[in-house]
Amino acid sequence: MPDGPKQPPPGAARIVDLLDLGQEHLAGSVEQPRREAALLLGEVLRLSEAQLYARADDDVPEPAALSYGQLIRRRADRIPVAYLLGRREFHGRTFAVDPRVLIPRPETEHLVEAVLNCTEDGARVLDVGTGSGCIAITVALERPASRVVATDLSPGALAVAAANCRRHGVEDRVRLVRADLLTALRPGAFDVVVSNPPYIDVGEWPSLMPEVRDHEPPEALFAGDGLDFYRRLLAASGFLQAGQRLLLEIGKGQLEAVRGLAERGGLDVEWVVADLAGIPRVMTLRRR
Ligand SMILES: C[S@@+](CC[C@H](N)C(=O)[O-])C[C@H]1O[C@@H](n2cnc3c(N)ncnc32)[C@H](O)[C@@H]1O
Repeated sequence: MPDGPKQPPPGAARIVDLLDLGQEHLAGSVEQPRREAALLLGEVLRLSEAQLYARADDDVPEPAALSYGQLIRRRADRIPVAYLLGRREFHGRTFAVDPRVLIPRPETEHLVEAVLNCTEDGARVLDVGTGSGCIAITVALERPASRVVATDLSPGALAVAAANCRRHGVEDRVRLVRADLLTALRPGAFDVVVSNPPYIDVGEWPSLMPEVRDHEPPEALFAGDGLDFYRRLLAASGFLQAGQRLLLEIGKGQLEAVRGLAERGGLDVEWVVADLAGIPRVMTLRRR
């Protein structure tokens, strides 16, 4: 780890030495340097945090120490842990992620719950802006008779979603389509449309965490003043027939603006679900 903490003597790196060095290198960059150092060393050695401490005096083979050093340096550059590990848990399952997709967020599990609550098995479900595929694949697994279509404009995101479909054995049940929002899709073809679209105001760019601002795909984050995708989606709400539902994840402070857009587009707000921080996060809209 040049430019950082001192190196352990060659061939003498014990687990505890590497934890100390990693912690020292990450201090000032991340909130929990010791925990993250343990997470990354555990990943390389395939050991849990408890196992690392139980074997604190064991020597670490040099190739593993080098891999760990690389991970620590990349994390100090604020690359998100999920990209370093290549995976993230979502709704109890593991999804592959890389910088082509947004890292699935816990808030989005509320959106999935809302979709499951109003989706009969056998329903036709559309996920707009699927990214890693976490919403579409979870719905396909939890509602095994549903027919799911997932769209994204980004070919890279669709490649990650395809890998996740294979990982979860739903490649025959989730159809991935490259499309701009709802274009190329037949009106009335879906009972439920769900979307976690980009919803950050570009003006917020400087205030975002470096992990998000510098490493997650901009096309997954930003939407003009934050409302551009809701405007476009809701202007196309003739896509839904009477009684069909659109479920949206929204950002902090966007509830009233999105409600207004929905009502002007002929959709009523059925439910609003707050996340664990009390922020209105999910809207269920229904076509009049
Ligand atoms: C906020 S991310 C959500 C990803 C995933 N659904 C999730 O919840 O983790 C938004 C996704 O919308 C996609 N996207 C952006 N513009 C789009 C458009 N015009 N049409 C379709 N997808 C779009 C991005 O590529 C990105 O994958």
